[in-house]
Order: sequence, then C-alpha cells, then structure tokens
Amino acid sequence: MSDRYCVFGNPVGHSKSPAIHAAFAAQCRQDLSYEAILAPLDGFAESMRAFAAAGGCGANVTVPFKEQACRLATRLAARAELAGAVNTLVFNGPDILGDNTDGAGLLRDLSTNLTCRIAGQRVLLLGAGGAARGVVGPLLDARPAALVIANRTAGRARELAQRFAGPAPLLGCAYPEVAGLSFDLVINATSASLTGELPPLPGGVFASGSLAYDMMYGQGPTPFLVFAGSHGAACLADGLGMLVEQAAEAFHVWRGVRPETAPVLAMLRAALAR
Ligand code: ATR
Repeated sequence: MSDRYCVFGNPVGHSKSPAIHAAFAAQCRQDLSYEAILAPLDGFAESMRAFAAAGGCGANVTVPFKEQACRLATRLAARAELAGAVNTLVFNGPDILGDNTDGAGLLRDLSTNLTCRIAGQRVLLLGAGGAARGVVGPLLDARPAALVIANRTAGRARELAQRFAGPAPLLGCAYPEVAGLSFDLVINATSASLTGELPPLPGGVFASGSLAYDMMYGQGPTPFLVFAGSHGAACLADGLGMLVEQAAEAFHVWRGVRPETAPVLAMLRAALAR
C-alpha cells in the first residue's frame, strides 16, 4: 500500500495541495497518496489522531488549525517553535513532529524564483497574524537592512517584533507610522485580500525598483497588488510560488528528496488562468 499523507483544513475543498503533491510524487517516483481531509472545527485533534492511527505518515495543516497543530505535536522543529504554528506533521508511532515550512517556502520563492535579494534591503511586512509570524524568523535570517512589521492592531505588530528582538533592526507599528518611509520589498501577510480588502497602507512606501509580494493568490491580481502597481512598485508577485515552495519543503521533510518546483508552478499558473 502507498504511504498516506493528507492536508487538514476547514474549509479544504479548494486546496491545491493534493494536486501539488501528486505532481511531486510522480516526478520523484515516490509511492504515496495525498488527500484533503475536512476536519470539523472542534475536531482537529481527533481527525489527526485517527489518520495517524490508520497508518498515515504525515500531514499538512492549513487554516484554521496551524496553532492547534503546534500545541498537539509532541516535538517541534526549531522553526515551528519560533513561528508558534505548524503546517507540516510527521507521524512516527506516538511521536508527532511539528514543523513549519511556510517561511522557507516564502524565502525560496523570493530568492530563487523571483531572484529578489533580501540582504541589505528594507523590508515591510504587513500583518501580525499566523501568516506573518511564520515568516519573520526566515526573513531576519536573510539579513535585511531593516524589517518593519505594520498591522491594523498595532499592539500585535509590536508584540511580534518583541518576540523576534535581536541584533537586526526590527520595528512593529501601526500603518500610519510607515508614512514617509520607503521599502525595497513589501510583503502582504494579512488576510485582507481574502475579502477583497486592502490594508490601510500609505501610498509612498514602494521604493523605485521595489517588489510587492502578496502571500494570497487568485485568478487576477489581489487588491494589494493593484494598489502597489499604481503606487510605484516595479515588480508584483502573488503567493502561488510560496504555496508550491512550502509544499516542496514539506515533501523534503517527509521523503528526503526535493522536487523540481518550476513545472508544478507552471501547471498551477496555467490552471488558474483558465
Ligand atoms: P492568519 O493566520 O491568516 O494570518 P489571523 O491570525 O487572523 O490570520 O491574522 C490576520 C491578519 O490580517 C491580521 O494581521 C489582521 O489584522 P489585525 O491583527 O488588526 O486583525 C490582518 N487583516 C485582516 N483583514 C484586514 C484588513 N481588512 N485590513 C488590514 N489588516 C487586515
């Protein structure tokens, strides 16, 4: 029987992870199956334990279970502990390893697919929820000149900055406080695009030559990318590349092999355009 993997979410019907992992498995000649499992909102722990007990080898975890998965894991990878969230689980008898590949996925998409340099650059991160928390550590590891976290609820941004306080210049603040500053890379980690909204961002934050990156993706450009494009950002990118790269990193955690992401990203991009 094939090794079994899945993604837990609620909702999960829209998930592209089964298609991505099926493509990776075919490419790397790995004998595995990967399904989407809708866990009840109050029943994630039961769903996860049932899947592991039935022989499941590993799982991805998506909205809204990433923080719960972090609490349920018996062991955490350092990057998951820092993020306070888990998107990848590895089952080994009673042992449940929790990992987080979101930050690595973002960094790989930025640096490899988009050839964006982060070292020495001024980076603005929008949002202070789970999505933002998962990428602060890897962004700081890439040694930006400064990282500013702006959030609608300024206290959450300050807390997040405090959590990662270290030698790198790092500031948490409210949106009006970034007026007058400009950045080489602006990353939208808010969930505003989900509801067609735009974070209240001052228009002048995009330096000439800057890259605007939205962790969300859809058929057309998100409201944030439309705004960025009309306020001076030179390059626009959505989060489809991050989705594929975080999946590749999870696949590597599970199988010890790293799939080629470019053909899978191209396949998803073509499907999205249809
Ligand atoms: P996730 O795990 O997807 O990050 P979350 O923890 O609920 O979800 O965080 C959502 C983030 O998007 C938060 O930073 C939220 O801002 P607040 O902390 O002020 O709530 C941000 N967000 C959601 N909708 C937004 C909007 N319309 N404008 C600006 N920020 C928004």
